[in-house]
Amino acid sequence: MERVKEISRVRELVGAAREDGGRIGFVPTMGYLHEGHLSLVRILKERTDFVVMSIFVNKLQFNDLNDFDSYPKDIQRDMELAEKAGVDLLFLPDDSEMYSNNLTVVDVHEITENLCGAHRPGHFQGVFTVVSKLFNIVQPDVAVFGQKDIQQVSGIKKMVTDLNFPIEIKVAPIVREKDGLAMSSRNKHLSSEERNNALALNRSLHRAKKMLMSGERDSSIIIEAMKEEISSVTHGDMDYISVVSFPDLKDVDRIDGDSVIALAVYFGDTRLIDNMLIEFTGDSLNCII
Ligand code: PAF
Repeated sequence: MERVKEISRVRELVGAAREDGGRIGFVPTMGYLHEGHLSLVRILKERTDFVVMSIFVNKLQFNDLNDFDSYPKDIQRDMELAEKAGVDLLFLPDDSEMYSNNLTVVDVHEITENLCGAHRPGHFQGVFTVVSKLFNIVQPDVAVFGQKDIQQVSGIKKMVTDLNFPIEIKVAPIVREKDGLAMSSRNKHLSSEERNNALALNRSLHRAKKMLMSGERDSSIIIEAMKEEISSVTHGDMDYISVVSFPDLKDVDRIDGDSVIALAVYFGDTRLIDNMLIEFTGDSLNCII
């Protein structure tokens, strides 16, 4: 595995891999790798010939600078995990390599108006700007993102279409701990009590699934039941529990077509997100948690 800090070197190495006829796969990350990131690498290993991973904690997407300062880092461990997973090129730019007096930002409207977009001003603009830059640097054929950040994926898909990036975007399932907690670099910040309480996220999604499977379609009734589940372990600090259409992410009163139930809740100072994708085939539905 090559480790590279310079954009020009990434271009050389990716160019050489492409000249050999290889398809380029790309996983952008902010590091502190876990099984969720490694599952994305595995998806690309099956579909492409040369896998690039970036690790860059992108200040532009942090609306809260304390969150940026405390974002977990362990670059040594990350390098070992990336190499073991079969990453061919690890791009580790520093801030000055990525941003020098940037005056350009990328925004995707509408899709970013609710869910996390309503609670983290500027966050998605930071994400889409850095992802556009990384796409232009790496020029992959395929890039993969996790379902857990469903609003990020929806926005990136729309951005790729609108801005004509010749890149296939793959969406990977949420990877969970054995007890159901969705994997996240932020889980490291949870005390053992908070971690235990955070299992209510997954429980609330399963409760929603059960209701859907027994025919309930009213969003507000499902949201109420989920709120009850969450408030049994934490007082307040629910950023949102929402039912939205997929992929355009508009609030829906009734679940009659492809939708997402998404939630963001604080456990102590740690904000966790989770979601369930609901896919309809005719009248039957499939819930992907
Ligand atoms: O999902 C993430 O880790 C980040 O938002 C991303 C896509 C690497 C952009 O910084």
